[in-house]
Amino acid sequence: MSWSAKQYVAFEDERTRPARDLLAAIPAGDVRLAIDIGCGPGNSTELLVERFANAKVCGLDSSSDMIEAARKRLPQVQFDIADIDTWNDSGPFDVIFANAVLQWVPDHATLLPSLVSKLAPSGSLAIQMPDNLNEHSHRLMREVAADGPWVGKLAGTAGLRTEMADASAYYSILKACCTRVDVWRTTYHHPLAGGASGVVEWFKGSGLRPFLEPLDEAERAQYLNQYQTAIERAYPALADGSVLLPFPRLFIVATR
Ligand SMILES: C[S@@+](CC[C@H](N)C(=O)[O-])C[C@H]1O[C@@H](n2cnc3c(N)ncnc32)[C@H](O)[C@@H]1O
Repeated sequence: MSWSAKQYVAFEDERTRPARDLLAAIPAGDVRLAIDIGCGPGNSTELLVERFANAKVCGLDSSSDMIEAARKRLPQVQFDIADIDTWNDSGPFDVIFANAVLQWVPDHATLLPSLVSKLAPSGSLAIQMPDNLNEHSHRLMREVAADGPWVGKLAGTAGLRTEMADASAYYSILKACCTRVDVWRTTYHHPLAGGASGVVEWFKGSGLRPFLEPLDEAERAQYLNQYQTAIERAYPALADGSVLLPFPRLFIVATR
């Protein structure tokens, strides 16, 4: 699946807020090497650079478009194109930061201990993942995918996102290899101008991408039309025409 830095940064403030909240929960300590995995256009990496001013900070992402944007934004930082699934740098890292990315990487029961193994003693793995597969926004993506001429093309799309385990499962996986595990869940409520079209624009930069990518131009327009109509019903506009988008997210900071 390809990512567009331009579409992603359209809601950069809102998307970066969970990264700030995640970073604030990493325990204080001597950080010499930190990495932002799934760094996107460098918005989350920028926070690491600010907080760990004396550390070497680097970033990786599987999208060349995102890495190009990140390099432009932070020319002093080393950014590499790499896939977390096959990433084999053993560090050791004092911080591994994974904001809004691991929902796209499978098999968390194997992945998370393998990321912890790349940490230095007392190092932290910090993760935030959208916990929104059961929200109207995502239920409707799947429903529209199952009701149109694109059914065949989109047959495997819903399975691309990794099903989240519950908080206690993540706690148990990480407690087996860490001294301290902090797990919490927050629902943000984002006021989006433009009503339903604001919601559609938001998800065009993230969750809708795998549903739109396999479609031709005409199908894409029709899919978006049907999706927006369904979104209008699910998220009624407020008096000023905006929509309040509830967005639950799961946070984990695990310290070795
Ligand atoms: C929602 S963006 C998050 C960007 C940034 N970390 C932030 O906090 O806003 C998800 C990013 O993860 C990247 N990504 C998805 N799957 C990946 C994988 N398997 N390996 C590396 N990067 C991946 C995408 O290219 C995209 O840039």
